[in-house]
Amino acid sequence: MTLIFSGMQLPNLNTARLVVRPYVIQDAPTVQSMLEDRRIAAMCASIPWPYPPGAAEEWIGTHEVHHDQLTGVIFAATRRQDDALLGTVSLLDIHAADRRAEVGYWIAAEYWNQGYCTEALQALMAFARNTLGITRITGRCLAHNRASARVLEKCGLLQEGLLHAHARSEGKYHDVLAFGVCWPERMHSADG
Ligand SMILES: CC(C)(COP(=O)(O)OP(=O)(O)OC[C@H]1O[C@@H](n2cnc3c(N)ncnc32)[C@H](O)[C@@H]1OP(=O)(O)O)[C@@H](O)C(=O)NCCC(=O)NCCS
Repeated sequence: MTLIFSGMQLPNLNTARLVVRPYVIQDAPTVQSMLEDRRIAAMCASIPWPYPPGAAEEWIGTHEVHHDQLTGVIFAATRRQDDALLGTVSLLDIHAADRRAEVGYWIAAEYWNQGYCTEALQALMAFARNTLGITRITGRCLAHNRASARVLEKCGLLQEGLLHAHARSEGKYHDVLAFGVCWPERMHSADG
């Protein structure tokens, strides 16, 4: 089975305050300086710290393959009023046959607690549902990452599990919360 989206260029997603769009290579210096903040890497297993020189450019260079093969959708959240790059929202581990994907996200610290991550993620989830035909979204966060858990809740995911000592961060194992949502159409899909 394939997802509905194939061979299309990824669109910009417009929300009240944001334009959520694919990254361009010109974003690399901003991403590079944002990810030198240890507070972000400490919560995201896939982000190394210290963040190596050139890593942002290399990372943005991987997006095209993910988008072409629909193995991931990685978007920049930008602010409509001034084009400021705020951070990233992604669909990772897209399983076409199972019509599910996991969300990933980070926002630069100077923009925290203004609802930006929630707004961007809600737009991405609507795109996943309405354009890609995804019917289940999952998300995971370290148990002490209350801001991340709150974002998932505000996006309609419920806690489904607790994974004990599951992830290593800053030299210690931590519990991880597993969240998920199944949309109603998943239960009534004609193609099983
Ligand atoms: C998690 C993160 C993306 C949230 O981004 P954001 O734009 O600040 O998120 P929002 O403003 O949409 O929502 C944050 C919510 O968490 C709440 N929150 C923040 N810190 C909190 C804390 N210590 N305890 C409880 N709630 C907290 C905020 O009050 C807000 O909830 P509210 O709207 O009900 O008041 C951001 O903190 C971040 O990038 N952290 C580091 C990287 C990371 O954790 N990524 C996720 C990995 S799973």
